[in-house]
Amino acid sequence: MKFYRWKEGIKFIKYKNQTGIFDLIDKKVCKISGRAYSEINKYLTDKVSSLNTEYEELFKYLIKENYIVSSTVRNENGSIKYKITPKIVYYEITSRCNLNCKTCFANTPGFKRRKELSFEKVVELLNILFTLKCVRLDISGGEPLLRKDILKILEVARDKFQMVNLYTNGTLIVPDMARQLKDLVYYIQVSLDGSCEVNDAIRGEGSFDLTMKGLYNLKRAGMERVIVKLTVTPENVNYISEVNSFISKEFGYHVDISLFTPLGSAVKNYDCTIALRDCEKGLFRDFQRLISFLLRKDIMEAFGDQKLFYKFMSEVVSNMGEYPCALGRKNTIDITPDGKVKLCSFFRESRFILGNIFDVENWLKKFEELYVPAVDEIPSCKNCYVRYLCGGGCRGMAYSVYRDMMSPFPYCKFFKSFYTLMFWELGEEGLSPETVREKIQEFQEFIKQEISE
Ligand SMILES: C[S@@+](CC[C@H](N)C(=O)[O-])C[C@H]1O[C@@H](n2cnc3c(N)ncnc32)[C@H](O)[C@@H]1O
Ligand code: SF4
Ligand code: SF4
Repeated sequence: MKFYRWKEGIKFIKYKNQTGIFDLIDKKVCKISGRAYSEINKYLTDKVSSLNTEYEELFKYLIKENYIVSSTVRNENGSIKYKITPKIVYYEITSRCNLNCKTCFANTPGFKRRKELSFEKVVELLNILFTLKCVRLDISGGEPLLRKDILKILEVARDKFQMVNLYTNGTLIVPDMARQLKDLVYYIQVSLDGSCEVNDAIRGEGSFDLTMKGLYNLKRAGMERVIVKLTVTPENVNYISEVNSFISKEFGYHVDISLFTPLGSAVKNYDCTIALRDCEKGLFRDFQRLISFLLRKDIMEAFGDQKLFYKFMSEVVSNMGEYPCALGRKNTIDITPDGKVKLCSFFRESRFILGNIFDVENWLKKFEELYVPAVDEIPSCKNCYVRYLCGGGCRGMAYSVYRDMMSPFPYCKFFKSFYTLMFWELGEEGLSPETVREKIQEFQEFIKQEISE
C-alpha cells in the first residue's frame, strides 16, 4: 500500500490566506492557498480518507516537485540530521597586515598578539582537517599573503581539500604570484571598498591603486574565479551598483557585499548605531533600483508565471534554512592564527574558543555540544513570516551589537521588507501586471519613509 507524507525537512509558514512551503534540505520554496494546504494536510495526516478532487492537480505537482513523497508507513515525518564535523573552515592564518582599515573586524584586542603557527604546524593542522573530512578551506587573516610560505601552504592544502579559497586585500599580488595563485586556489576574494577616494578613506591612502594592480595581475594571469568584496559602510553604501558596473566592465568579475559589523577597528572609528542605520538606509535606497527593474513590463508579467517565480526565489534564498549560516548547522569553524578553534570569525572574544586544534577530541566534543539558536527559538524571529528565508540573520553580528546571541539581527528591517515583498506579496498565482505594479508602488512609498526617517 502506498502512503504519502511531507518530505523530511519541510516547514510551513502561514501569511494572510497563503501557506509557504519551505524545503530546507533541497532549498526550494513554493506557496499555495491556505485552504489547499489545509485540505492536503488533512489527507496526509489521515484526518480524511480521500482528497477533494479540486486539489488533485496540485497534489500531483507537489509530488513531482518532491515536497510530498511516497512512504510505506503513515505519518513518519523525520527531522533534519546534520553532520557534526566542520566541513567549511575559515582559517585566519596570520594576524599581521600591511593595511589598517577603518572597519577591520579582525583587529580586536587580543588578535594582534596571536602568534602564527610554523609551516610544519600548519601542515599538521591541515592534516587534522583532512582527517575530519573538511571539504572547503578559506584562508584569511590579517593579510595571508604576508606569510612568506603562503604558496607552499596553499600547495599542501590544494591536494587535501575539494576547495581552497583565499581572502586578500590584493595589494601584494604581483604577476608571478598571480600566475601561481591561479593554479593553487579555487577562488580569490579581493577586498575593495569603493572608488579610489572612498576606498582609500576606508582602507588607507594608496591602497586602491595597489589593489587594482593586483586585480589586473590576476586578470592577466587568466584567473577567472575572483570575487571582489565590498564591505558596506556609510561611505560606500550608495555606490555599490557603480562599483559593480565598473568591476564587471573592467575585469568581468563579480562584486559581492559584506555587511558592516561593529567589531574591532569599526567600533573605534564609527558611531556604530548610526553607521548600522545609515548602511540599512542605503540598502533600502539600493532596493529602489531593484524595484525600478521589477517595474519593467516583461518582469511583471514573469511574476504571473509561478514556475519562473519559484525558480527566481530559490536562487534569491539559496541559504534558506532554520539557521542563517553554516555555524548553526555545525558545518563550520574558525581557526585563529595560533591554532585555536572558535565559532565563526565574528565571535572574537576568548570565551568563544572551543580549544586548541591539536587537541582534537576536546574541541570536537565542545563543538558537538555547541548550542546556536535556530530561528524558531529567537524571540524576535519566531513568528516572522520570512524566517526560513532569512534564518534569523548573522548571530555573530547580533552578538556584536547586543552581547547576546538571542538578540535581533541589526539589518532585520531590510531583510524582512525584502523577503515579504518578494515572496509573499508578489508572485501570487494569477496576479495581473497591474496588481503587481500597485503592490510594488505601495512598497516604494514604504521605502521612501524608511529612507527619510
Ligand atoms: C578581515 S579581512 C581579511 C582578509 C584580507 N586582509 C582582506 O582585507 O580582504 C576579511 C574581509 O572582512 C571584511 N571586513 C572588514 N571589516 C569588516 C566589518 N567591520 N564588517 C564586515 N566585514 C568586514 C574585509 O573588507 C574583508 O573583505
Ligand atoms: S580588512 Fe583585511 S586588509 Fe584591512 S586591516 Fe583588516 S585584515 Fe588588513
Ligand atoms: S527578517 Fe528579522 S525577524 Fe524575520 S527571521 Fe530575519 S531577522 Fe528574524
